[in-house]
Amino acid sequence: MASRSSQEVPAAARKLDGKVVVITGGASGIGACTARLFVKHGARVVVADIQDELGASLCAELGPENSSFVHCDVSDEADVAGAVDHAVARFGGLDVMFNNAGVVGPLGVGIRDATREELERMLAVNVVGPFLGTKHAARVMVPARRGSIISTSSMASAVAGAGPHAYTASKHAVVGLMRNAAAELGRHGIRVNCVAPAGVITPMATAAGMGGMDVKTLEALLEGAANLKGVGLKADDIAAAALFLASDDARYVSGQNLLVDGGSSVVNPSLGFFRD
Ligand SMILES: NC(=O)c1ccc[n+]([C@@H]2O[C@H](COP(=O)([O-])OP(=O)(O)OC[C@H]3O[C@@H](n4cnc5c(N)ncnc54)[C@H](O)[C@@H]3O)[C@@H](O)[C@H]2O)c1
Repeated sequence: MASRSSQEVPAAARKLDGKVVVITGGASGIGACTARLFVKHGARVVVADIQDELGASLCAELGPENSSFVHCDVSDEADVAGAVDHAVARFGGLDVMFNNAGVVGPLGVGIRDATREELERMLAVNVVGPFLGTKHAARVMVPARRGSIISTSSMASAVAGAGPHAYTASKHAVVGLMRNAAAELGRHGIRVNCVAPAGVITPMATAAGMGGMDVKTLEALLEGAANLKGVGLKADDIAAAALFLASDDARYVSGQNLLVDGGSSVVNPSLGFFRD
C-alpha cells in the first residue's frame, strides 16, 4: 500500500492550503514524513534540524516553492527564534508549529546506572526544544490571533516502563508544558496539543540501543508488544495525527495528548482476560 505522504491529494481535499508550518526535527523519521504529507496538503514547510544535508535534500525533493531548510538546534534560543523568523520572512507568517525534534537514550538502563548528564541531554532537546518552539511560535501567533502548536510527546508520557527514565521524564514534561500553554493561549485563538506515538520504526528507534537489532526483528518485537494486532504503526500514522491537529478538522481540540498507540496505554497486558 502506498504511504499517505506519497499519494497526491486533490486540491479540494487539501487540509492545509496556504498554511505555513515549521517542523523541528523535520529532516528525518516522523518529521520528514509529516513534512511530505503537509506539503501534499498545500502547506509551505520550514524544515528545522541539525542534520543539514538531510534537511536540504528533503527540501530539494519537496521543491523550493513549498519548503525551506533552516539549521536549527532546538536547545538554542537564537536558532529557534531564527527558524520562526525564517518562516515569516520566506512564507509570510506561521500557522503551525510542530515541535517534533527529540532524542532518546539507550533502553534498559536502570535508575542506578542512569546518569545526570543523560537526563540533562534529554531535557535540553525534548523539553527546552518544545518550550522555545512554543514561546517563539506564540510571539508570532498571538498578534495573528490564530495558530496550532503541536509537540511530539510519546506513549512514555502516559504509561510507565515504556522508555528510559530520562526520556520518560522529558516526555511527561512536554505534556505539562503543552497543557499550560493551552491554558494561556486559548484566549488568543491558539490551539496547543501533543501527538504521542508508540514505538515506530525510524532512525531513532533503530538507534535506541536495541542491541544492533535489524528492522525486521524490531518490527516483530513491536508487533508482539502491540495491543492492536496486524496493523503495524508507521511514521505515516503519526503524520496523519499531526495533520488532524494542525488542520481545521481539530478546530476545537486543544490541551490534548493524542495517543497513537493502538490502545496500548490503556491496557494492562498481564490481565489477559480476552481470549479468541
Ligand atoms: N520512533 C519512535 O518510536 C518514537 C516514539 C515516541 C515518540 N517519538 C518522538 O518522535 C519525535 C521524532 O523522532 P523520530 O522517531 O522521527 O526520530 P528521528 O531520529 O528519525 O528524528 C529526530 C530528528 O530530530 C533531530 N534532532 C535531534 N536533536 C536535535 C536538536 N537539538 N535540534 C534540532 N533537531 C534535532 C534529528 O536530527 C532528527 O532529524 C521525537 O520527539 C521522539 O521522541 C518517537
